This record gives sequence, structure tokens and C-alpha cells, in this order.
Amino acid sequence: EGKGDSEPLIGVIDAGTRTIKFCVFRAKHTKELAEHAVDINPIVPEEGWHEQDPKEILDAINTCIQNVTKSCNISDIVTIGVTNQRETTVVWDKTTGEPLHNAIVWNDIRTSSTVDQILAKLPDNNKNHFKQICGLPVSPYFSAFKLKWLMDNVKNIRRAIKKGTCLFGTIDTWIVWNLTGGVNGGIHITDVTNASRTFLMNIETLHWDPLLLHTFNVNAAILPEIRNSSEVYGKVKGTVLDGIPISGILGNQQSALVGQNCFKEGQAKNTYRSGCFLLYNTGKTRVQSTHGLVTTVAYKFGDDKPTYALEGSVAIAGEALNWLRDNMGLIKNVQEDTESLAQEVFNTGDVYFVPAFKGLYAPYWRKDARGIICGLTAYTTKKHIIRAALEAVCFQTRDILEAMNKDCGIPLSKLHVDGKLTTNNLLMQLQADISGIPVFRSQSQDMTALGVAMAAGQAKGIDVWDLSAKDREIVPSDTFLPTTTEDERNARYNKWKMAVHRSLGWALG
Ligand code: G3P
Repeated sequence: EGKGDSEPLIGVIDAGTRTIKFCVFRAKHTKELAEHAVDINPIVPEEGWHEQDPKEILDAINTCIQNVTKSCNISDIVTIGVTNQRETTVVWDKTTGEPLHNAIVWNDIRTSSTVDQILAKLPDNNKNHFKQICGLPVSPYFSAFKLKWLMDNVKNIRRAIKKGTCLFGTIDTWIVWNLTGGVNGGIHITDVTNASRTFLMNIETLHWDPLLLHTFNVNAAILPEIRNSSEVYGKVKGTVLDGIPISGILGNQQSALVGQNCFKEGQAKNTYRSGCFLLYNTGKTRVQSTHGLVTTVAYKFGDDKPTYALEGSVAIAGEALNWLRDNMGLIKNVQEDTESLAQEVFNTGDVYFVPAFKGLYAPYWRKDARGIICGLTAYTTKKHIIRAALEAVCFQTRDILEAMNKDCGIPLSKLHVDGKLTTNNLLMQLQADISGIPVFRSQSQDMTALGVAMAAGQAKGIDVWDLSAKDREIVPSDTFLPTTTEDERNARYNKWKMAVHRSLGWALG
């Protein structure tokens, strides 16, 4: 399919936390024509640390591109979009193209003491001190803390900054710089959605913020230029894609929001992959959460004003299931085994599992939380624990929904979901039962890649995808309806809150 027809195609690089993928869409079509994915190796030098080799990411992209372009006509690819895991931080030398350190991944918690240093300087140690400026609470999650750690701890980085050869970027920046020529004139850019996760961008002006740069002692010369999410940035130099423009960049959660067609204020989606991220479109208004959510840029297309979102970020969703497989050996296959084994019991036997491996993100923002499994009895089997891990994903989502409802005033009446984990029917039913609202599962799990394909296709000068309603193909969805009563739901949710309470402060002793 695809070979020989001259329909415009859009290539997408989707660089996620665990998996790198290249895929191709036909303009205005929501289904991928071809795709190839490669897993990348997490590097864990110490407990709580998580690194990746930036070169491995580039190699994986190349492997995926080579594979996919065998089954489609490269000359039909009119543009490329890039979507990526956000916050993950890379620094490299622009004269050699070599990384100056492994990438520090978003969920790495080595910067706990960097966070404490910054907090100590703020009135009342207030973690929300900079929220008005950047929309984010002080947390190891965001890039500026990782960059500060790198500057404080790696001599070569300090030296390269002094010499003027150091560049900083999130994963989109690293990929685009390399794709567009690297040491031979690569462009050093990021888009507003990725920049809004660094803790360095002012979410009103959409520029790097002088006060934040000063707080983290960042030299603006190392930062990429902040661009829109949809415009022609430049062309690929080298590889089989040589000469093809790049015209879309979106952080992966924002990209899924676009892929789900959540263009209207009040529309929301939840994506379940290694983490779980619920984004709620707030239109042109920057809503400041008073219940632990972050304010983020949803997208900015061309010269349009930016659209904002409230986000509830959950650090550990699918990762808890990977942990059951890799560390505990309870399952062999995450997708199939979790569903079939958890289904063999009717409930968790009152077991609750709070997978706060890296602290807890929204709405708690407690880096001192640690994982617990509680309620164990001699009756508990691994099936109960697996089921409790699935429920943990749903309870964490309910935590976010509760916060969103309080911040927005109008409770969400349904939840649009996507991401690899959503193929698990039991998880979807548990989500409906625990949150008490219908869950609409997109029949294509991959809204992330689709979103940036749409953004890239509609860029001025590319113009193969018009995002006004007429070109919007709606992906069909399956519906899961709640089967619990409100009393049942609330009783179980209260128990979850008790379990969360016990996990808080664990790392402090
Ligand atoms: O903020 C981190 C997020 O972008 C990671 O997404 O899907 O790769 O786990 P994912």
C-alpha cells in the first residue's frame, strides 16, 4: 500500500520514553500507513536515576526510518513532524556534535537536593512560587533542575558553556538539530509546548524568562530558539529523507490532545503509556490551578494565539506493570498477562498499591513519597497485586479528575483515552468504575503520532491538512460505562487516599 500513489504523506518521529517510532500517515487520514518501532535501553546508574544515550535515540530513529521507507514512496513524503517525551534533558557540544552527558530522563529524581536548594531560597519554601510565571511547581520533573544538576556536577559542561560551545535541548531539539545537519548547520530550536516544560519559559510571553534564567544560573546562549508548534523550521540534511521539510513539533502529551481533536475549551484526553497524562483544553485562558495541576501550552499553530491546557501528570502508570514483570517476575507479558490474571479475581481483596517509585506528581507533588502495597493478608495472591496495579493507574487518574473538577468548576462528564495501555479492556472498565464517568477509548491507540502529523500537515507552505472541521476524520471509539454506585466508588477512593497518605514522607524517614 502506498507505493506508486502520489498522495501526500507525512512522516512522524515519535520519540517516547521507552520506544522510538517512525511512521507515515496519508494526509487527512488518521490511520498510519506504515510504522516501525524500536525500544531504547534505560540506563540506571543509581537508584532513582534514569538516563538514556542520546546517540542511541538517533540510531533508533535511523533504523525506523530505513525500515518504513522501504514500504512507501519517499518522494511522496511532503513533510516531517516530531513528537517526543518531554522534560528529558540533553546537553552537547556544537562543534563535535557529541553529547556532554547522557540524557537525564524526565522521571529521574537525582535532582532532589537541587530542588531543596532552590526551595530554601523561596519565601516559606513555597513550591508554587514560580507558578504564575511558568505554570509549574518546583519539582525534579522539569528540565531546569536537571540542567542545573549537570552544570553543578559535570566539569566538561561548565567548560563548554564558558567556551561557548554548549547547547541545551529537550529531545525534540536534539533530534531536529541532528536531522537538519548537526555540526554542519543544524538548527537549534524547540517548540512552545516543549519549552513550557523546562521551567525556564514564561508562559505568557512565550520567551525564556530572565528571572528563571537567573534563578538557575542559565546562560541564554545555550538555549534553543522557541518556535511555534506548526511552521516550516528547516529541511532534513542527509539520510534518505534529505531535503524534506520539518514543519511540526509537539510534546507527546500535547500531540495526543491534538490527535484526539480536543480543540475546544473543556475537551480533555488521558494518555496511558509509561506515565499517564490528562490534559484539559482551557482555550486562550491560562487557568492557574489551585489544586495541584500544572498550566501548560497545549499548542500554537503558526501566528495564532497559543492555546493552553491544565495538565495532571502521573509519573508511574505502565511503568508499574513493567516493574511487576522486570523486578518481581509476576508476569511475562505486560499487555496480555495483566488483563488475564487480574480478571481471575473479582477484586483486589482490599489490597492497594501506590506506585510512588519516583515520588508522586499531580496533584501531590511530593518527591518524598515512595511506593507501598498495603492491605496484604495470607489470602492475597499475585493476581490481587496485579489487579491493584491496574487500579492504581485508575485511582491516580481519579485524583487528577477530582483536582480538575475543582479547578474548572464543571465536572468532566466523559474521558477520552488513548495510548498503548488502553488495549487492556479490564483497565478501561476499572477506569470507568473508579471514576464514575464513561470512558471513550480511541480505536487507534496512537493519537500521539497523529497529532503532530496534523500539525505538520497544516503548516503554512505545506497545506495538506486543514484542521478546520472539514478535514477532521474522527477516530471511532469504544465506550466503557461505570457499573458501580457512587457510594461504592467513594468508599474505595477513600481507601486509596489512606494508602497515598501512608506513602507520603517515606523517603524522609
Ligand atoms: O512528561 C513526560 C511524558 O512526555 C512522557 O511520555 O508517553 O513517553 O511516557 P511517555
